[in-house]
Amino acid sequence: MLIDTHTHLFLEQFAADDEQVIESAVTNGVERFYLPNIDSSTYDSMMAFVGKYPGRCYPLIGLHPCSVKEDFETELDFIREKLSKQTFNGIGETGIDLYWDKTNLDNQITAFTSQIQLAKENKLPVIIHCRESFNEVFEVISKCNDESLFGIFHCFTGSVKQAQDVISLGGFKMGIGGVLTFKNGGLDQTVKEIDLKHLVLETDSPYLAPAPYRGKRNESSYLKIIAERLAEIKEKSLEEVAAITTENANMVFCQL
Ligand code: NI
Repeated sequence: MLIDTHTHLFLEQFAADDEQVIESAVTNGVERFYLPNIDSSTYDSMMAFVGKYPGRCYPLIGLHPCSVKEDFETELDFIREKLSKQTFNGIGETGIDLYWDKTNLDNQITAFTSQIQLAKENKLPVIIHCRESFNEVFEVISKCNDESLFGIFHCFTGSVKQAQDVISLGGFKMGIGGVLTFKNGGLDQTVKEIDLKHLVLETDSPYLAPAPYRGKRNESSYLKIIAERLAEIKEKSLEEVAAITTENANMVFCQL
């Protein structure tokens, strides 16, 4: 059994064939899906999707760093209101993205810090998006870090040193996705040095499809390709990689 710890199955890219996508994922051993929200505009479709697939799909609530605009305080209020009424399995995705927009770093940091506090208050994992911003993310997290903080560095693509920094925080796993299959991606070299107990699997679908589907729509059934590549790098069986990463995911999402 595999768990896709990060997929946006509720987005319009899957509107026409979501049933086949779920069925094909389950056929490939992917039995549970965690859905990080983007912002208030995607909330209803996420919740509708979760309602359609009970026991398979679990909702997270957060504000994606690329959706942090001038009105971000309104978005944070929206999250607080939903958290007061409804159960979620984590806060996310949140974090810092300096690839698309470097001008609003201060707002991104404020929104990220608020969401870390919400994760702590609600005893939920925080799912972190970090793109061209490892130092900035790490600085924020280090300031807030204590025994009540835990979660996932989603789409981890960093160096061995950065992986060790994440591990040193104490409560964080690294989400490994399609980048692991990219030629010259370099992630295989990092992963070789990192114990499997620190890793969880994710697709981030519809984005970041693994080879040989790179550039096409990603979907959760491709999680098996990522797991197979991880097994190859770690010189373990697919079954062992599945068992360990599933246990890690259950630990993060408190479903042990
Ligand atoms: Ni994502």
